[in-house]
Amino acid sequence: MTYETLEATPFAGALGAEISGVDLSQPLDNQAFNDVHQALLDHQVIVFRDQNLTPQQQLAFAKRFGGIHQHPYISGLPDCPEVMPIVKEPTDTHTFGAAWHTDQMFTAKPAMGTMLYALEVPPAGGDTLFANLYLAYDALSDGMKEMLSKMKTYSVGDRFKTAGGKSREDDYKGTSAMAGQVRDPGDVQTESKHPLIRTHPETGRKALYIGGHAQRFADMTDAESEPLLEYLKHHATRPEFTCRVRWEPGTLTFWDNRCTEHHAIGDYNGHRRVTHRITIKGDTPF
Ligand code: SIN
Repeated sequence: MTYETLEATPFAGALGAEISGVDLSQPLDNQAFNDVHQALLDHQVIVFRDQNLTPQQQLAFAKRFGGIHQHPYISGLPDCPEVMPIVKEPTDTHTFGAAWHTDQMFTAKPAMGTMLYALEVPPAGGDTLFANLYLAYDALSDGMKEMLSKMKTYSVGDRFKTAGGKSREDDYKGTSAMAGQVRDPGDVQTESKHPLIRTHPETGRKALYIGGHAQRFADMTDAESEPLLEYLKHHATRPEFTCRVRWEPGTLTFWDNRCTEHHAIGDYNGHRRVTHRITIKGDTPF
């Protein structure tokens, strides 16, 4: 694929491309915006290196793609609440996002895309894995595709990651920057049902829409759901469907949550990692 204003160089067979020729700190003209948008649709995960962005510049870039989805529990920056800092200190043992998931699957309109910008990274480790859910769908048998086409998942945000027996809400509620931040009611919903096979609203391609927030199939018990759900979660992340992003300070990665899932690797205890995350509002999956 060729673009007028940028170059996209794939770095894995399944998904992911490095983008060059774009300075995200500057407003994008319409052609540059169209090219970035098309590169996202073509590659699902696009990586921009050597960017130098304030939170406001990252936000201006994100807003070209839609409204901003605010995390139900986690605070944004005090002076730019749409930007959520993800900070792991050398003393922290918990890694945010260290399980396969697709962002905000537990809301009725899960995030269309996420932009993560790295400010500080460990000397080694702290990479992020991505999986292509189009390929996961394409690799299923016709019989399995037919059966799954009628099924829905039931996703929960509050049970997904617990720390020391506390719910996520208990963990994050009341943190100082969050006080007074008003959230869209759609953003704070934490239980939702979605089609297991999702059609991408822009490409028309089908994806196996699954991730760690999916607790069971809708209208089935946990026990009934578990064997097939676990099979599909495992299938979706087969190595040949994945890519891996190595972060540097100044890297911004933009991924399409409608056809990918991701996993932050928690292999850098003792080191600091700081990123700024923005999630962009999405549609009702169909
Ligand atoms: C996330 O799950 O959004 C965080 C990914 C990362 O920190 O690499």
